[in-house]
Amino acid sequence: MQKVVKQEHIHIRKMDMSDVPFVYHHETKVFHQRIEEKALYQEIIENNLSRYFIALIEGKRVAYIGGWVPKPNAEIMTIYVKEEYRKQHIGHLLLSYIIEELKKDEVESITLEVRPSNTAAITLYRSFGFLDVAVRKEYYQDKEDALLMYLLIGGHK
Ligand SMILES: CC(C)(COP(=O)(O)OP(=O)(O)OC[C@H]1O[C@@H](n2cnc3c(N)ncnc32)[C@H](O)[C@@H]1OP(=O)(O)O)[C@@H](O)C(=O)NCCC(=O)NCCS
Repeated sequence: MQKVVKQEHIHIRKMDMSDVPFVYHHETKVFHQRIEEKALYQEIIENNLSRYFIALIEGKRVAYIGGWVPKPNAEIMTIYVKEEYRKQHIGHLLLSYIIEELKKDEVESITLEVRPSNTAAITLYRSFGFLDVAVRKEYYQDKEDALLMYLLIGGHK
């Protein structure tokens, strides 16, 4: 059932180790990622190039976003909003948040891959100005293509 959210109740912060099981659950169950929890922990907590943020409502985890920063470009690796909280601009808020953080990191541009069938995500990315730049043929395990999208943010000095 859809939960109605007041924007002022959404709190976004950098992920810490307590968030890893939540992300692990969704990355493996929803995205069918084949990854060990320990490897995900290393990726989120120990990798200096990673930027992962979590959104909470009244202390409850509802969404997250994660990226990787091989400067001057960054890559959005994942974004997820729990189903009952979707279409209330939490995805938009998380993407805005990470873009501001990446600007502080002096990142110049962001890329990401998305399934062409994922209208919700593509519409969200386009609303930020992400452009379609290439198609990666049979990129996903089930052989669906990936659309490569690009956004110039010019966060350099
Ligand atoms: C993609 C996803 C993160 C969007 O999160 P969300 O919080 O529901 O998105 P928002 O409410 O911030 O939407 C922002 C804009 O995106 C677009 N959008 C979002 N969901 C949409 C949908 N189902 N259909 C069409 N457009 C959609 C709209 O333009 C929306 O703005 P509007 O409501 O003012 O029209 C969410 O659907 C999700 O977690 N999906 C499953 C995981 C996933 O596919 N991640 C992307 C992997 S590349």
